[in-house]
Amino acid sequence: MSDKAKLVLGDKTIELPVFTGTEGEKAIDITKLRAETGYVTLDSGYMNTGACTSAITFLDGEQGILKYRGYSIEEIAEKSSFLEASYLVFYGKLPTATELKTFEDRIAAFDDVPEGIKTMIKAFPKDAHPMAVLSANMVSLSAFHHDLCAQDLTPPQKDQAIAQLMGQLKVMAAYAFRHSQGKDFVKSDRSLDYCSDFIHMMTGNKNVKKEVAKALDVLLILHVDHEQNCSTSSVRLVGSSKANIFATISAGVDALWGPLHGGANQAVLEMLEEIKGSGKSYQQFLDEVKDKNSSSRLMGFGHRVYKNFDPRAKIIKKACDSVLATLGAQDSLLDIAKGLEEVALKDEYFVSRKLYPNVDFYSGIIYRALGIPTNMFTVMFAMGRLPGWLAQWKEMVEQPGFKICRPRQIYTGDTKNTYKDLKSR
Ligand code: SDX
Repeated sequence: MSDKAKLVLGDKTIELPVFTGTEGEKAIDITKLRAETGYVTLDSGYMNTGACTSAITFLDGEQGILKYRGYSIEEIAEKSSFLEASYLVFYGKLPTATELKTFEDRIAAFDDVPEGIKTMIKAFPKDAHPMAVLSANMVSLSAFHHDLCAQDLTPPQKDQAIAQLMGQLKVMAAYAFRHSQGKDFVKSDRSLDYCSDFIHMMTGNKNVKKEVAKALDVLLILHVDHEQNCSTSSVRLVGSSKANIFATISAGVDALWGPLHGGANQAVLEMLEEIKGSGKSYQQFLDEVKDKNSSSRLMGFGHRVYKNFDPRAKIIKKACDSVLATLGAQDSLLDIAKGLEEVALKDEYFVSRKLYPNVDFYSGIIYRALGIPTNMFTVMFAMGRLPGWLAQWKEMVEQPGFKICRPRQIYTGDTKNTYKDLKSR
């Protein structure tokens, strides 16, 4: 196939370069389009627009493939750890044993937040959504860490920002939970691994079952990165103005909160609870979802990119059974989720629209089994996605020719209005 695309505009024909990625994806490079034709492209929701090139994560939505730096998600989830997978997306290679230990220790050293941040967390109403607490305190860290607010961070400062935010987000998430429960903060215990320490800071119990820590570790691995999703694109957009790293990551937290994005994991559990309480059959619920006049959606289903199974959903669904069995727990909501999936995947509405379970459909079942409350689910997603946000920000600011992101538009408003004095309106 030619590496040029021809565009005919009236009597003018221009050639545009075709860009091919390492996995064979193809894009028409329109960098020169406006200069040569005066035209821009229009693509609401960026359904067909590649905002950047990236070497971090590859998705194939038709095949249901997800790879971090060329490693399949299945292999990483089975053989790696959350911090090792984080190192991989940050630095582009699997760490040696020494590199990993150093990285783990650097993150563990950021085991607290400034007193002012603790005071702010305690100032929130106990029923505040923890994503509000996380977002507000993430950007507020900039007031306490001026050293990391320079326009351009040096490589050592970037490394520090990465380790510091990996440590401090975990701390703020745990503190937000403890505050919501009316309990004192629990100090981090550096002798514990990342996930065990988080659960210890949530529960106050140092004896964390290794199966529980492992289940959380796998869930966090599955959330590490997902190319240019809404929150990562928000991080890139805000970071492109050279806003400091705390403001940049806070933008990712805010975008993730939406129920169409990371907030879906909480919405799935609320949906399953509603079905359980309503006594509706799965088909009755799905018929409501299909009714254009109803606002209900099958939360945890559908995806902008995956038009096949989300590989992460497959891994999580399998893990649900093993985690519940390990913990000797039952969860009727898991049975409802499985039943709903079975009926939906036979229903023409979902089949014709290629709507399959996504990462959020089953993840809440495991969070619940681990004792994490529903309103913390999206915070868990943020913990998992933080490495991806930081890696994508780092890749962007280090990319040659880095520019502020500023999309164009087509104006459709009034064209010739003249001012009328107040008394004549
Ligand atoms: C995440 O981008 C990422 O990578 C995100 C993510 C990540 O790791 O970062 O994977 C994480 O955000 C997963 C998605 C979580 N959100 C949900 O589960 C919410 C429910 N899903 C939908 O709202 C929807 O599927 C989206 C938002 C995920 C995708 O929306 P699109 O691509 O804009 O698709 P659309 O809304 O245009 O839907 C196409 C059709 C429409 O029907 P018609 O107008 O053609 O008749 O499918 C229908 C939609 O109404 N549809 C659904 C549906 N999802 C799409 N109908 C019912 N229930 C659903 N869940």
